[in-house]
Amino acid sequence: KPRAFSGIQPTGGIHLGNYLGAIRNWVLQQDQYDNIFSIVDLHAMTIPYDPRELRQRTLEVGSVLLAAGIDPERSILFVQSDVREHTELCWILGTLATFGELRRMTQFKEKSKGNERVGAGLFFYPVLQAADILLYDAAVVPVGEDQKQHIELTRDLAIRFNNTFGETFVVPEPDIKPAGARIMSLTDPLKKMSKSDPDPDSRIELRDPPEVIRRKIRKAVTDSETVIRYDEERKPAISNLLTIYSLLSGIPIPELEERYAGKGYGQFKQDLAEVIIQALAPIQQRLEELVAQPGIVIRTLQEGAAKARELASAKMALVRERCGLGLPP
Ligand code: TYM
Repeated sequence: KPRAFSGIQPTGGIHLGNYLGAIRNWVLQQDQYDNIFSIVDLHAMTIPYDPRELRQRTLEVGSVLLAAGIDPERSILFVQSDVREHTELCWILGTLATFGELRRMTQFKEKSKGNERVGAGLFFYPVLQAADILLYDAAVVPVGEDQKQHIELTRDLAIRFNNTFGETFVVPEPDIKPAGARIMSLTDPLKKMSKSDPDPDSRIELRDPPEVIRRKIRKAVTDSETVIRYDEERKPAISNLLTIYSLLSGIPIPELEERYAGKGYGQFKQDLAEVIIQALAPIQQRLEELVAQPGIVIRTLQEGAAKARELASAKMALVRERCGLGLPP
């Protein structure tokens, strides 16, 4: 089976964008690939954070991923900082990356905009991401649309390394789905739904209780004319809600348009809230069980790290040899 790798940052509550753009696909494709998923705590350090909170969030994201259906029997799930090889390969790939290409990364430009103190870690962020992927010979990287440029850079670095030091890395392909890869904010349909948006009403978190989901959907902005129709250009807000509705219910968008023809936004939103609540209910129930038994989650993540370390250390031995690092045997 081809290897799939993906990662998620423990920077805040996991939201519907993370779920529909990434996690749900990881779970649905678990039998199709040889999977490795990582909670990337080293990436989470690239913006100011509270160290006391980070470990808690790492554990919480681990619990959410297991609750969402990541099965440790079929997938390796681990915490990035538990496998030291990620940082080592990051340095080596950094010697191949250019200042110009890193400066052009949209995420770097966005996250550094307006800050007078821009950490070098933020600049190096995509190199660490490339290391995550290349370390495990991943052929496929299932992600949301916002990661496309980082995967493109990863491909460039893999090709550059192979050309410089000899065939070593698999050149990965992004796996970005046509629907759900860019879920938009509920309060501004021109911005993507994001963990870092200061307004919590802009996103639905996987842990949100039913009342909160109902309120957030009721408050979600809509477009001017009241017809329920998919049109990203002219009706970005309703198109986003239709995407969420369709993915979580399995009902195709044209069928939803038909079902709500002549009906107002009120009924549509009320039904959408219930669809979300129902889809999240089983995840929330499993999550509650896991939160009560953090020991199980911790053990699963430690076992995952042991498996990941084995793969990573073998790969790094080859990389060191190719690069001429260390002493002759
Ligand atoms: P992160 O933690 O920001 O997001 C995790 C995943 O969720 C997707 N996503 C979305 N999809 C659809 N709509 C949205 N509004 C939305 N917001 C987020 C992201 O595309 C991502 O797939 N750099 C990565 C973490 C990472 C990684 C990796 C990913 C580190 N190393 C190696 C893949 C492979 C990130 O910031 O994810």
